[in-house]
Amino acid sequence: MEFFRLHKQNLADSGSYLDQLAIDVLTGLCAAPKHLPAKYFYDDVGSEIFQQITQHEDYYLTATEIEIITSIKDDLPGLIDEQEIDIIELGAGDGHKSQLIIESFLGIGCRVNFYPIDISEKAMVILHENIKPHKNLTVHGVIAEYFDGLRLVRTKSTNKQLLLFLGSNIGNFDRVQNQGFLRKLWMSLNVSDYILLGFDLKKDVSKLTSAYNDSDGLTAQFNLNLLQRINSELGGNFNLDKFQHFGVYNPVIGAMESYVLSTETQEVYISALQRTFSFAAYEPIHLEYSFKFAPGDIEFLCQQTGFEMVKHYTDSNHYFIDSLWKVIKE
Ligand SMILES: C[S@@+](CC[C@H](N)C(=O)[O-])C[C@H]1O[C@@H](n2cnc3c(N)ncnc32)[C@H](O)[C@@H]1O
Repeated sequence: MEFFRLHKQNLADSGSYLDQLAIDVLTGLCAAPKHLPAKYFYDDVGSEIFQQITQHEDYYLTATEIEIITSIKDDLPGLIDEQEIDIIELGAGDGHKSQLIIESFLGIGCRVNFYPIDISEKAMVILHENIKPHKNLTVHGVIAEYFDGLRLVRTKSTNKQLLLFLGSNIGNFDRVQNQGFLRKLWMSLNVSDYILLGFDLKKDVSKLTSAYNDSDGLTAQFNLNLLQRINSELGGNFNLDKFQHFGVYNPVIGAMESYVLSTETQEVYISALQRTFSFAAYEPIHLEYSFKFAPGDIEFLCQQTGFEMVKHYTDSNHYFIDSLWKVIKE
């Protein structure tokens, strides 16, 4: 596997990666209400904890999407019908789902060039262990943010593309952001390229809340690790025992919301910012949205952003949809 490391290089051109983290933390902790960007969850420790979350029985999303992909993977090569294909995956994570799709294309004698793009170097290392070598497969891992990675891949990819955006990553954007994101994706693709998107559906609130508040406290560790990351990388003095994870469903916007709450009045100093931040008792820091969809929301998004719906694929519980779209351009 060949690696491209854009993530730290690129930011080194415009200041350092740590500068960007510092700016984002300063902006977020000065805001009211306070917030921190979810993309910073995925340092090495965060990526390892996320791996454990995906295997936890309360976190139904991963097993459910694997059920869907296992049932549809053999349809995809026939539908796309190419001798050679470039499979590009945004936020590829551990590569388990990618491997299933890749092997179905290899199985019919198709050549596959796989371009996983992930902000996390650790995720890329785990992915590397999960993608099985094959004479008709090349893997070009790109450690970068989504669109930086996509720009690089565009300079290398010459075949029909199947772009994967799985694991309900699309749910981290709000309803306006996801249209902008998909339209930008549309602009970077060619006519008749495909995208397969994973959408988590609206469902019983108890099912949702237990997925984001798992019984072993892994999600709590994952969220609190972001404060630990600020301690390690920016010289913060967050006391993790004085913050608690809180995950709740907001039915008005249709999203799970993740927070950490300060359990007492306290001050936190961050040396890289030379600044102290005050927290009131039970004041939240918002970390992440995970928007949930109705099938009609998915069709609307598809129409609004320049794609043609090919098919919705769902699981036996109707918890999740993987939706296959084709790029149309007049
Ligand atoms: C929720 S996990 C999903 C992983 C995988 N797609 C799956 O379905 O299991 C999100 C993945 O996206 C990556 N990620 C998050 N924000 C990103 C960004 N802005 N650019 C690139 N990768 C990102 C994380 O490192 C992580 O591996």
